[in-house]
Amino acid sequence: MSIAVRKNNHIDICLREDVQSRLLNGFEKYRLLHNALPEADFNTYSTETEFLGKKISAPILISSMTGGTEQGEQININLVKAASILNLPFAIGSQRIYISDPGLKIYPYRKLAPNIPFLANVGAVQMNYGFERDDFLRAVDMIEADALILHLNPLQELIQQKGDTNFSGLLKKIESLCSNFPVPVIVKEVGFGISYDTAKKLREAGVAMIDVAGAGGTSWSRVESLIYGESDVRSIAEQFDDWGIPTAECIRSIHEMDASIPLIASGGITNGVEAAKAVHLGASIAGMAAKLLPAAVENSDAVYNVLKSVILQFKIAMFISSGIEKFV
Ligand SMILES: Cc1cc2nc3c(=O)[nH]c(=O)nc-3n(C[C@H](O)[C@H](O)[C@H](O)COP(=O)(O)O)c2cc1C
Repeated sequence: MSIAVRKNNHIDICLREDVQSRLLNGFEKYRLLHNALPEADFNTYSTETEFLGKKISAPILISSMTGGTEQGEQININLVKAASILNLPFAIGSQRIYISDPGLKIYPYRKLAPNIPFLANVGAVQMNYGFERDDFLRAVDMIEADALILHLNPLQELIQQKGDTNFSGLLKKIESLCSNFPVPVIVKEVGFGISYDTAKKLREAGVAMIDVAGAGGTSWSRVESLIYGESDVRSIAEQFDDWGIPTAECIRSIHEMDASIPLIASGGITNGVEAAKAVHLGASIAGMAAKLLPAAVENSDAVYNVLKSVILQFKIAMFISSGIEKFV
């Protein structure tokens, strides 16, 4: 199956099937402490922050989803247009397809959004399958990105037929890439989470930020098993339906152990209250993928409307909260 066909299958399956992890994202176990005396004017209260050296309107990131096909490019165009109006950062889906096929032209997304942070994306495992430093530089250059995301997806590759399953020696290769790379390198999972131990190793290797992409949202073992549909693949994959570290637990545990590690919270985040909980637990920014997909296949107005509500929910939640507590 070609990369392009697989990409379109991913979108279709995420839109039509139940691909939710059987774990919750963990934010349900936390309650924001209500502040009845905010001592501020909501009309002048700002959620503005800085991300990758640029001002953004709120700490909300459009997480990596797609690219490389006609449908994927249209989805990204809709996401980028909305992100540009709202001044939010945008992460493109894996650019492997463009690197493997140099003849494939990428849409000039930068023209739609000259000012917002753009994040490039390639699987870290590709370092064991022929991708060199120049390939990662090309991924950054082709969208004029402000950072490079390397994704770690061992469970997805193991369930996928003919997945790339040689993950040996990656930490050293990540370390070597990080030294002297022109933009910050961020490492993320794709929905099973990153533990403190792994985050620490990555940070020591020179990674600028960790996106935990924890469990509680899209489950890539479910998505991959549904693509092939053979019952033996499904019966192996279903044992991993509740695999991973819930997003809130990733953030809390990493931040508690080392508050200096910059964190992106993603994995099952669908609203601004969860984003506010993520920030209270120690994340710099919260990312969303699946929640935006139905709107992104429609048009940019639909994406704008979803994000506008998320920003407002975030703003209200931050305005009237003074901290966070675990209650379960
Ligand atoms: C349709 C779709 C495609 C995705 N493709 C990528 C990808 O190419 N690279 C990547 O790092 N993550 C990819 N992801 C994972 C997301 O960026 C995110 O880490 C994960 O889905 C958890 O977030 P969510 O629960 O908000 O979907 C994809 C997610 C979706 C829903």
